[in-house]
Amino acid sequence: MNSLNRRTFIAKTLKGTAGVMAISILPLGLTACNNKTRVDTSSMASLGPISELEKGEFPKKVPYKTTVQDAWVEQKMEGFVYVNKNKNEDSLIIMSPVCTHLGCIAGNAEQDMKEEGVAFYCPCHGGEYDEFGVNIGGPPPRPLDIFKRLSRMALSI
Ligand code: FES
Repeated sequence: MNSLNRRTFIAKTLKGTAGVMAISILPLGLTACNNKTRVDTSSMASLGPISELEKGEFPKKVPYKTTVQDAWVEQKMEGFVYVNKNKNEDSLIIMSPVCTHLGCIAGNAEQDMKEEGVAFYCPCHGGEYDEFGVNIGGPPPRPLDIFKRLSRMALSI
């Protein structure tokens, strides 16, 4: 089992009985899985059906809401992720908006910055990321965290 820190997200795909795929994310670090795919889903937030995520212009901001239950404490949480198609346009990539410099939230870049290839901008110290979350300017030391597939059922960064 992998232990994940607080800023770590886990994404999960679910296949329903009607064949509808949905992606869920985990806003707080819980316990991830091994190849047997054991994931604590109690605090996951749904991003909705993949068919809906695949619509519209990319990259796009996708909000989520969830309730996290930790022992007797219940906490409502809201947040968002950035979703884009990968370079081959054959799958979606889901990016955390948490800046990899010091943890501020990177927002959508202004139009003039977009013309220079900056898709996400962190106002705290001027961090710049391209549409795939790659750090291209300012102090961020690495790309935005991106969810990776652990198995057929779960995605994790
Ligand atoms: S926290 Fe984002 S650039 Fe420093």
